[in-house]
Amino acid sequence: MERKLKGGIIINRFLRPKESVLQAEKMQKAFLSLGVDTDVVSDGYLHALITDNKTACDFNYDFVLYLDKDKYLAQMIENRGIRLFNSYKSIDVCSDKAQTYITLCKHGVPVPKTMFAPLSYMKDDKYTEEDYSGIEKNFSYPMIIKECYGSKGLTVHLVNNRCELESVLEELKNKPFLLQEYLGRYKGVDIRVIVIGGKVVSAIKRQNKNDFRSNVALGGVGEKIELNKDFKALSERVANLLGLDYCGIDILIDEFNKPVICEVNSNAFFEETEKVTGINIASLYAKHIINSIK
Ligand SMILES: Nc1ncnc2c1ncn2[C@@H]1O[C@H](COP(=O)(O)OP(=O)(O)O)[C@@H](O)[C@H]1O
Ligand SMILES: [Mg+2]
Repeated sequence: MERKLKGGIIINRFLRPKESVLQAEKMQKAFLSLGVDTDVVSDGYLHALITDNKTACDFNYDFVLYLDKDKYLAQMIENRGIRLFNSYKSIDVCSDKAQTYITLCKHGVPVPKTMFAPLSYMKDDKYTEEDYSGIEKNFSYPMIIKECYGSKGLTVHLVNNRCELESVLEELKNKPFLLQEYLGRYKGVDIRVIVIGGKVVSAIKRQNKNDFRSNVALGGVGEKIELNKDFKALSERVANLLGLDYCGIDILIDEFNKPVICEVNSNAFFEETEKVTGINIASLYAKHIINSIK
């Protein structure tokens, strides 16, 4: 008789908003309906240790569904020989927006015009007129400034003038961040595409009437759309380039109505997509995982 598979679903131990727990529970249910048991486990230092020069990670699963972005624990699980969804490499490139753009650009994927801020280590580091005018030479107002790490739109700013530029740069000074052209033809709109196993499975338009950010957490509302073939081909190319088993890609639309990649989420929430499309994303992802390890 075939041995029963057992999986782990990892969620962040501190950040436990409703949707993370809900996502884990939905995935657990999807696995169960395919006859696969899983544990939902909080990550953290108890599981990630190097001792006697060996990785001591106490997970003992046939696979791990990793609903976090902690690249250290991700590597330790993989070093134990456990198949991780998504892989450490994919999580790593997606969790850092600057790294995502640099990687995609190398492969000729359209991304917004973007400038990376120099790292600053000290609280009293000062920006100069040269910094401000260098930025203004490349970007007109309004422009976007976003931290390299962040989600739900919480670390993305729209900057309307020099005064706001100075204040946002001051606020973000000791963090990694980037400056970007604002693609504002359709204000507060983006396209969220979910790709599983290299194939597009759903697409919604997200629109926020009260904010330039279309994130559902900030009031963006989804609407089911048919994806045209340019958007579809680009989404699948991006997922394959970054080696993603599962992802939610945020796509902006430029002035020529062409797709531009805004962000690739290795850990995208699917609640809104499931709600407006009726597609059971959890089940499709669980099936993909089980087929991949068999
Ligand atoms: N360059 C841009 N031009 C226009 N809108 C943008 C731009 N970058 C981000 N946005 C808007 O802000 C939202 C959040 O940005 P994103 O880069 O996806 O970060 P997060 O990880 O916080 O979702 C996007 O879904 C989009 O609506
Ligand atoms: Mg996003």
